[in-house]
Amino acid sequence: MTTHRKRPEDLRSHRWYGVSDLRSFGHRSRSAQLGYSRSDYLGKPVIAIINTWSDINPCHGHFRQRAEEVKRGIWEAGGFPVEMPAITLSEPFQKPTTMLYRNLLAMETEELLRSYPADGAVLMGGCDKTTPALLMGAISMNLPAVFMPAGPMLRGDWRGRQLGSGSDVWKYWAEKRAGKLTDEAWEEIENGIARSQGHCMTMGTASTMTSAAEALGMTLPGAASIPAADSRHARMASATGRRAVDMVWEDLKPRDILTAASFDNAITTVLALGGSTNALVHLIAVARRAGVPLTLERFDFLSRRTPLVANVRPAGKFLMEDFYYAGGLRALMATVSDLLALDVKTVEGRTLGEALAGAEVFNADVIVPRERALVSSGSLAVLRGNLAPDGGVIKPAAAEARLLRHRGPAVVFENYNDMAARIDDPALRVTAESVIVLKHAGPQGAPGMPEWGQLPIPKKLLEQGVRDMLRISDARMSGTAYGACVLHVAPESWVGGPLALVHDGDVISLDVDARSLQLDVDDAELARRRAAWRRPAPHFTRGFGALYQEHITQADQGCDFDFLEGTAETPDPEIH
Ligand code: FES
Repeated sequence: MTTHRKRPEDLRSHRWYGVSDLRSFGHRSRSAQLGYSRSDYLGKPVIAIINTWSDINPCHGHFRQRAEEVKRGIWEAGGFPVEMPAITLSEPFQKPTTMLYRNLLAMETEELLRSYPADGAVLMGGCDKTTPALLMGAISMNLPAVFMPAGPMLRGDWRGRQLGSGSDVWKYWAEKRAGKLTDEAWEEIENGIARSQGHCMTMGTASTMTSAAEALGMTLPGAASIPAADSRHARMASATGRRAVDMVWEDLKPRDILTAASFDNAITTVLALGGSTNALVHLIAVARRAGVPLTLERFDFLSRRTPLVANVRPAGKFLMEDFYYAGGLRALMATVSDLLALDVKTVEGRTLGEALAGAEVFNADVIVPRERALVSSGSLAVLRGNLAPDGGVIKPAAAEARLLRHRGPAVVFENYNDMAARIDDPALRVTAESVIVLKHAGPQGAPGMPEWGQLPIPKKLLEQGVRDMLRISDARMSGTAYGACVLHVAPESWVGGPLALVHDGDVISLDVDARSLQLDVDDAELARRRAAWRRPAPHFTRGFGALYQEHITQADQGCDFDFLEGTAETPDPEIH
């Protein structure tokens, strides 16, 4: 373990509290007003607890209590806790999509840490976009920081059947529409699917990203899998607080931890988990904040060698609670440890290899041995071609095999409303061989790149028994979704990417083995269409939306704001 290097007068907060001038008088007198004596804070690391609790975020419903447990740990270790509320991003409630606000939380995190006397931070998040947002902000500020994951909720329960967030909603909604489920039964499901605090308990974006945070080394080892309702979660919260104090003395900062190798570890872990495609966008954004150049091709490369060994929905059968009892993320990472760089550092100050020592699988049906992998390799593929010059992504394992090499005529929808209005029209000219294309669903177009990418199968084809079709959009897709869906097409149609130029009847070719996505229209015709193309009017003329549309980058670059990327120095505030 690193020995203490900092002295109290080296602390960043010393400039607020420790000096003797007019301003520090104000800081100390106002601390007294808050009920604190000098001995409570003087010479101690100030740990900002960035808390994304809100009455509107059920995934973080336990965060008021957890913040108290984090504080207990900080006091115990000789620090001074300061809870700082930050905007929550509540996936079920926030419209049009939380993705519109990920960078806002990232900015708020960074600026809270910069403008107040923080020496270190505990980042409390878990619901989908909160994890990447908190990491992005903390990395840019680069103060010692630990991520405290919210933990998954308990398994859903209905009449003795286990229910999983997301996936079972679609399943039973279809049964209800088919007249096979009563209103009473539907209400029972409504009341049983989310029965404790914590984030979605399938391998959706939340479990994917908290696991990625752990694999990056940004949580205490084992933290990401603990169910929110488990008393071990409360104890992890206190331990996180204690560790944050020590990290300040050791001056262990995010950019000391995050290297190209730690991002490889995170990607490999996400692939072994069968995690959400959202991880591509988020990990690229997080990496760029850390100064690590990460490209889509890296995901494709690692996908070719990584087996999927977590038997967790939607790829598998079980839920996150089962995954925890089976050994959790440490056991999964131990299962693929030969594919991980074990010499990288974690927030503990030790190596990942040390963090994984002794990890064991307790249920080989949930975390399966390599020889029984759900998918041996290639669970994710990055596509290129004249339809996606800057990339698109598909989960081949989630698609019907016959569609992985496919040629068919496009059925084009100009935007979501157009699709909603016409997709079930009996007159729609569509067959099982058609390729459904949705435009204007990307970072700028929707706006916010919502999870629309699992485009619906037209009803008349459903009635014929068709369950999968090739679908292409510049949208994202929920981590709980599946199908032959090409996502994240870049550049997006709104900014004039080739997707904007597709017409009904154009032939599109997909070849996953060749990683190719082609629009079979000759160059002269495409040039003619491009000359006639007009950029749509902006969605926003003022407010955060205007800032967003001015600065948002494309999916292959992580959808960060261009002015927030990179590691250029931002000065600390002068204290006058
Ligand atoms: Fe919060 Fe799914 S709604 S993680």
